[in-house]
Formats: sequence, structure tokens, C-alpha cells
Amino acid sequence: MNTKYEIKNGLTGKSTQLEAMSGTIGPDVLNIAPLLKDLGVFTFDPGFMATASTESKITYIDGDAGVLLYRGYPVEQLAEKSCFLEVANLLIYGSLPSKAQLDAFQNSITRHTMVNQQLLRFFQGFHHDAHPMAMVSAVVASMAAFYHDSTDINDPRHREIFAHRIIAKLPTIAAAAYKHSLGQPFIYPRNDLRYCANMLNMFFAVPCEAYAIDPVAAEALDLLFILHADHEQNASTSTVRLAGSTGANPYAAISAGVSALWGPAHGGANEAVLDMLEGIGSTANIDDFLARVKDKRDNVRLMGFGHRVYKNFDPRAKIIRGMCYRVLEKLGRTDSPLFELSLRLEEIALKDEYFVSRKLYPNVDFYSGIIYSAIGIPRSMFTVMFAIARTAGWVAHWQEMVSDPHMRIGRPRQLYTGPKKQDYVPIERR
Ligand code: CMC
Repeated sequence: MNTKYEIKNGLTGKSTQLEAMSGTIGPDVLNIAPLLKDLGVFTFDPGFMATASTESKITYIDGDAGVLLYRGYPVEQLAEKSCFLEVANLLIYGSLPSKAQLDAFQNSITRHTMVNQQLLRFFQGFHHDAHPMAMVSAVVASMAAFYHDSTDINDPRHREIFAHRIIAKLPTIAAAAYKHSLGQPFIYPRNDLRYCANMLNMFFAVPCEAYAIDPVAAEALDLLFILHADHEQNASTSTVRLAGSTGANPYAAISAGVSALWGPAHGGANEAVLDMLEGIGSTANIDDFLARVKDKRDNVRLMGFGHRVYKNFDPRAKIIRGMCYRVLEKLGRTDSPLFELSLRLEEIALKDEYFVSRKLYPNVDFYSGIIYSAIGIPRSMFTVMFAIARTAGWVAHWQEMVSDPHMRIGRPRQLYTGPKKQDYVPIERR
């Protein structure tokens, strides 16, 4: 039997019972619907610190233990043994695919990588220094104006075609944004290449000479993408769910997710970490920088540190730090001053009372930029890379929500503190 909690209004004596609901793992949640019905009150939880916004079977995080599971599989095992498209398939379909299922999925993704030619013309409307995230979110939203054959959200096959299209086309759109910022011609996708190798080719090849794809770079990207693929109800995923809950076109919902991801508190942190490291400059300046972080008047944060859910090491950060050594070694760049600086910064911060007492640890973004830089991805594209990977998670969550027959529009309430009712005053009497 589920635990029941009695809530009583001390003034009126009215009470109600809230039932606890249990998941497979993790804390119970209270069904608070009776609060409004029986006591006439809402709950108040700015930032959703203690609110489970939905039921989900996709990803589980234990923030105290530093655990991350996709469909029950530890991210460490997937990072070691799987590849990004298999993980995307797992997130979307719910179980590990057979060889035939994975081949079919990879084939479908490969064959959906081209985008409508008219869509490519959109880039000409952007100034050369437009941020790639602005271009990507706009072009993804514009996809709603193109792929009309698969936007019936109540048709499972339509949903599936949408899922394959968006995962396949986002790297192509990202590459077009990058090429536009360089003023270079767009490079079409190649069906003989795997997902990340194709992306590197679209980013770095030029029509006038052969481009050799570095397998180390492709492998590193694939691993980073596995680690970024999903993270339960984070801000951008919740944004995709909220936008999608209105029945909006799914491309519009994903575009909303791209926009939410851009902020420095979320996916924009990877770009901000490198800006920060460059600003610090050398290990000699770490103490001064941390003094500014700790002085709240300065409004400076140690970017890549802290997390709403992890109050322990982010398991993804551990993997990426290990990967930094391997990738930099393989690329012959072990003398990376930024990596050295970030290691020292982490070491000092982890011993500092300010960070220890607040349980602030390095998160996934602390080291990812070092790897992106090492493989030649420009800083302005870091968050776009995150968006490509997270699209797998966004799609899985959107699918889970839309295929639920009990889906309702997401519509939170508020604590209103504005003026009470007042009468309009004509302008000459104000
Ligand atoms: N540097 C300095 N102080 C921090 C930091 C930080 N990076 N993060 C949290 N704090 C302090 C904060 O000032 C507060 O202190 P106090 O209790 O004295 O007021 C306390 O720690 C709790 O912080 P919070 O802002 O209430 O925590 P939150 O859960 O609302 O925010 C966060 C989580 C990730 C937005 C925040 O830790 C942060 O801004 N980190 C830096 C940005 C970053 O790296 N973001 C990437 C997150 S992981 C990838 C992703 O989600 O996309």
C-alpha cells in the first residue's frame, strides 16, 4: 500500500490526504492534486527544486551517488561499449536494438541527412557573425514549414519519421551554420560515412582538396555525444515537453529546446568554460579568480561547476576528464595549457571550503570544450554540438509524452503578488 501524508490547514481545520507514488528507483513523489480540490491551495516551488513534472521511463539520475542510467544502463557502460546511434535508438525505442534493428536505424538516419535545398538558402539571410545557435534554432523551427508529410503527432509512423529526420538533419544544419560563418561553400552529407565522421567531413572538408577524417576525432565526438544524449527533465528537455504539450509541430518543440539549451547555466556553459579559462590565463591567477567567484558581489561563477541534481561528481565529467588525456595524447597535444589549467582549477576548487560546503563538483561541461577544441571544433559551435547530441533525448521525451493517451497541456500556476483589481484612470488624470 502507498504511504499517505495528511496535510492540515491549521486555521480552518480542513485536511486532505496526499498519496505517495513510487517509481522503480528514486524518491517517492506526492500526488498533490487533492491540495487544490480539498484545500484550495497551490504548491510553490520556483525553479522546480522539489517538483517531479512528469512520469518517465527514459533516464534516471541519482545526484548524491553520481549515477546516470539511460533506460537502466549505466552511462559508463554505454560510453565504453556502445555508439551514439545505438544510444539514440535505445533512448527512443526503450531497449537495446538487435543487429538488424540497429542496421536499419543507422541506414534510415544516413538516408535522411540531406535537407531541403530551399532550407539551405535561409543561411544567406544571416549575417556572417550570427551565433550558430541562433541560426540552428531558427532553421530547426523552419523545418516545420517543410516536412508536412510527417507532422500528425497522433500517428506513430509520423512520429518515427520525424524522429529519424531531426536526428539525421541536425548535423547537416549545424555544418551549414558553421560554413556560413566561415564564408565557405556548404559540403553535402556523405552516405558512406558514419554519423560523426560525416559531421566532421561536412564541417571541415572544402571542395578544392581531399579531407582526411581523423578517426580519433570521430571516436571522441561519438563518445561525447553518448554522454550528452539525455539527462532526464533538464531545462531544455522540459522546454521541449512544455512546447510539445500544446500539440505544436515537433520541429517547433525541438527548436524551443535548442533555444533553452543556449543559456550559460545549461548547454552554453561549455563555451563559457573556455572563455573563463582563457580569462584566467595561467595557474598563477587561479586564487584571484576564485576569490572573485566567492565574492557574491562580483556575479562571477566557476563555469562547468555545480549542478542542480548532482551533489557529487557528475559521472560524465569523470569520463570526459579521462578522455581528455587519451584524446590529447593521440592527437599529440599533451602540452595543452588549457587542460593543465583546468586540472589545477578543479584540484584547488575541490579543496576549497566554498565549493565543498555547497557540494559543487565539475559537471559535464568542465572538460568537454577542451576536447572539442583539440579536434578543431570552434568555440561558438560547442553548444551546437551539445544540441545535436541532446536531440536524441529531446525526441525520446517528446515521443514518450505525445504517445501517452493521458497527455495534457503543461500549464503551471503562480503566486500572484501584483496589484489587486483597480479601475482604469484616464490619461489626463494620472
Ligand atoms: N560557481 C560559484 N558558485 C556556485 C556555482 C558556480 N558554478 N554553482 C552554484 N553556486 C553556488 C550558488 O551561488 C549558491 O550559493 P549560496 O547558497 O551561497 O547562494 C549555491 O552554490 C547553490 O547554487 P544555485 O544557483 O542555487 O544552484 P542551482 O541548482 O539553481 O544551479 C547551476 C545549478 C548548474 C545553474 C549552477 O551550479 C551554475 O550556474 N553552474 C555554472 C554553470 C554551469 O556549469 N552549467 C552547466 C550545468 S551541467 C550541463 C547542463 O545542464 O547543461
